[in-house]
Amino acid sequence: MDVDIGNALDARPGLTEGTLDRLDGRVAAAHDRIARGMADDEFGYASLNLPETADSAAIRAAVEPFGEPEAVLTVGIGGSALGAATLADALESDVDAYFLDNVDPDAVDALLADLPLADVVLNVVSRSGTTAETLANFLVVREAMDAAGVDWTDRTLVTTGEEGNLRRLAETHDLPALDVPEGVPGRFSVLSTVGLAVAALQGHDVEAVLAGGSDGMDALAGSLFESPAYAYGATTYALAERGALTNAFMPYAESLETFAEWFAQLWAESLGKDGLGQTPARALGATDQHSQLQLYRAGPADKLVTLVRPTERADAPIPETDLDGLSYLGGSSLGDLLDAEFAATEASLAAADVPNVRIEIDRVDERSLGELLYGMEAACVLYGELASVSTFTQPAVEWGKKAARGLLGGGDFAEAEAVADKREFR
Ligand code: PA5
Repeated sequence: MDVDIGNALDARPGLTEGTLDRLDGRVAAAHDRIARGMADDEFGYASLNLPETADSAAIRAAVEPFGEPEAVLTVGIGGSALGAATLADALESDVDAYFLDNVDPDAVDALLADLPLADVVLNVVSRSGTTAETLANFLVVREAMDAAGVDWTDRTLVTTGEEGNLRRLAETHDLPALDVPEGVPGRFSVLSTVGLAVAALQGHDVEAVLAGGSDGMDALAGSLFESPAYAYGATTYALAERGALTNAFMPYAESLETFAEWFAQLWAESLGKDGLGQTPARALGATDQHSQLQLYRAGPADKLVTLVRPTERADAPIPETDLDGLSYLGGSSLGDLLDAEFAATEASLAAADVPNVRIEIDRVDERSLGELLYGMEAACVLYGELASVSTFTQPAVEWGKKAARGLLGGGDFAEAEAVADKREFR
């Protein structure tokens, strides 16, 4: 992973090399704190050890009885779905991957009507084992399998923590179960059983993903000038301090669109605390050059744009044409055009003094993705250290979970009572 912060300097909001020089001492101290947390397997920091601690053999053993299914249906939400979805959407496979990470009845019905339930592996994922959306969807899918005459106990894999309803259910029905590792919050779990079981079911090289994570781990160092992940974390933090409160995250590869969604969760849920944080905005190049870019370039000077791309990709030639005004396209390729669009966006933002950062990976494959995912996690942890926020907790998320459960009679939660305080003004 290569991070180029050149266009983040001397822009608006402003950041200079001097700013970064002064910040680097704090980066070194934050790195020491992170290294200590990793050495002690502290909650959250343990996630950064996953390239070394994730048990790929256990993952392979758990998925092996399912052979090569036609499809995998993951039931999970937030960090229990987005990592697996990122890998599934980035890497091609003959095994289709579907995700039920919402409880919209129309969407659930439509998906179940289309799925070949007898040939689907049902992959239920919840760290806590208590999340209402996940358990409700699981009950719905289980009933659909029953109705289709499919023995769901033969087709279900569970990934969960040691406690919780899902663990008890797995034990009751003797379902194959993978453990969510200790000390790993959902949004930091892509390099664990949580993110990798689907990849294994789809036939991807799980060890290569972890090897990429190891590349990212080896690249951590006590200076932002020596560590690409920390360069990104320190730059985004310093820009946010100076008013760049939105981070428009814009991959130039359709296969990385879900990666932007994963990044948005990581950044928002980890760093949005104590009145601080940086709002992630999801965009896709080149499509969003024709929609959001106008705002990014000419709107309020409160943004940075992160441009991400693979440097190698498959290409498709653009056919020659003698149509007036279009001959310049002939003999070129869609890849050339996408690269030109990328360069144009970068230059357009720089010309308008909008800070932007370029992140490049070699190609969209298992190893590069592992490194990219690890790098963004390390960047996020560093940002959290510099901002002194509690990166690994999500009290606002837990508040909503309790309120919803309470409203359905799933417990006595003060959060549910607060729903009655809704103010009306029509
Ligand atoms: O990152 C997080 O902690 C959250 O997004 C969780 O992953 C999400 O709320 C799902 O929780 P669970 O895995 O306990 O069902």
